[in-house]
Amino acid sequence: MRRPMVAGNWKMHGTRASVAELIEGLANLALPGGVDVAVFPPSLHVSLVVDCLEGQSISVGAQNCAPQAGQGALTGEVSSTQLADAGCKFVLVGHSERRQIMGESNEVLNRKFEAAQAAGLIPILCIGETLEEREAGKTLEVVGQQLGSIIEELGIGAFVNAVIAYEPVWAIGTGLTASPEQAQEVHAAIRAQLKKENSEVAQGVRLLYGGSVKAANAVELFGMPDIDGGLIGGASLNADEFGAIIRAAGN
Ligand code: 13P
Repeated sequence: MRRPMVAGNWKMHGTRASVAELIEGLANLALPGGVDVAVFPPSLHVSLVVDCLEGQSISVGAQNCAPQAGQGALTGEVSSTQLADAGCKFVLVGHSERRQIMGESNEVLNRKFEAAQAAGLIPILCIGETLEEREAGKTLEVVGQQLGSIIEELGIGAFVNAVIAYEPVWAIGTGLTASPEQAQEVHAAIRAQLKKENSEVAQGVRLLYGGSVKAANAVELFGMPDIDGGLIGGASLNADEFGAIIRAAGN
């Protein structure tokens, strides 16, 4: 049985004051015991969030890490080693906003994924197609390539300690959600691709869905057999809404 997980990606949102308020809201939620919960603040606020969540069952992750672990001359970057030292457990790798806006290639993302694991962080690999790619019937091909890049470079064993998030780009921040059936189709294909390499790894890895998840659509999405939880953007900035999504994953 895979343990469900709900992750909140705060993206480039928050001030020290609003973060403290959000954390207070999260700390007051009655959360189900069977769900792993993590929040992903901007790296600037990681330490603040780690401190404020001390004693709570909510983990902290980062939204990005440098392509190399350790320390070094890499102005402006934060390494997986530094994030782990600051109390992070997870890191997002390959969010579509970084692939598209920051131009991160599969090659760079392979290195980030490897750097994350080298520092003991659990990478959450984000993959997904654009609207154009979906309309051209290329969804499974695109997602398969993004996943295949890591498998080829780092081997299937890399997924023993990793999470995958399927986030169709057209559903991110648009209010358009993939239907539970659309999401399940891609999740099943992801698991089948992993299974070709190693069925035990495929059965164990958690596959999260992301893209306009809200309390109102979470139950249906999380009810699908290969959807093990969600990666939540906008709705994770509201503690009550995020709490309701977490409870949906616990059902
Ligand atoms: P929204 O939930 O705001 O659509 O964002 C999803 C996302 O990109 C999470 O990483």
